[in-house]
Amino acid sequence: MKHDQASISVFDRGFMLGDGIYEVTPFYEGKVFGLEEHLKRLQYSLDEIMIDLDAGSLKPMMFEAISKAGLSDKDAAVYIQVSRGVAPRTHYFPENIEPTLLIYAFPASLKGFENKQWSVLVSEDLRWHRCDIKSTSLLANIKSNSESHRLGLDENLLVRDGFFTEGSHSTIFFIKDNIIYTHPEGPQILSGITRKFVIAICAELNFEVREEAFPLSALDKVDEIFLTGTTTQVMAVKEMFSDGNKIFNEPEIGPVTQKIQQAFIQKTR
Ligand code: PDD
Repeated sequence: MKHDQASISVFDRGFMLGDGIYEVTPFYEGKVFGLEEHLKRLQYSLDEIMIDLDAGSLKPMMFEAISKAGLSDKDAAVYIQVSRGVAPRTHYFPENIEPTLLIYAFPASLKGFENKQWSVLVSEDLRWHRCDIKSTSLLANIKSNSESHRLGLDENLLVRDGFFTEGSHSTIFFIKDNIIYTHPEGPQILSGITRKFVIAICAELNFEVREEAFPLSALDKVDEIFLTGTTTQVMAVKEMFSDGNKIFNEPEIGPVTQKIQQAFIQKTR
């Protein structure tokens, strides 16, 4: 249906409590990328919050959304959101209710990321301790991101106990002496699908990847930083600010980032 014909109950637990999860899957000129990985992560999120739904059953609707939105040969993405459903407000998960499903396709600018660079802000990671669940409750992410947006910056890099975790909507990679560092999977980060693809690309290019948390205190030794995500793809970081000071500066896209970007373009196009 058209978006202005769709409606949900005011008692939908997604609306009232943020009791839901979501997924964003890219389509390059109509061709889906990483479909099985995205469905697997969607299933993981559903299982972790105990919503009984088969993520695989949504596959046909994703393609239908692309086609009905007239995006079959365009760069686009499909947003899927599943909330627990409609029930009187309680602090426990009510049983036997029907999940609410939202699926829509939207045009995405996926071309030209290799010519851009982002300016970023260091922020405290205010989120909960289950960032591996792709929850629609994004208040801590959007609060931090609004701070960088207000300063005219593109993203903020979250720090917990002196270590970078991830961006407000991206995964962080640091490059130091040709070794690539990214936070290990676990409850402190979202297990990024683009992260997985990029780690595989690094192996193909013979770059060593260390899945270790990177300390803020080691930033002065870093040669390059890039961020990954479904719509972010592989974005070079130009500069980083913290408390009004510039603490990282890389005016040109570094050679390792460029190699990874080119390999990523070849895989997705
Ligand atoms: N965000 N970390 C966070 C907190 C994210 O929200 C995202 C993606 C990523 C990158 O994950 P992936 O490579 O699977 O897209 C990491 C999506 C795109 C969003 O919220 O729109």
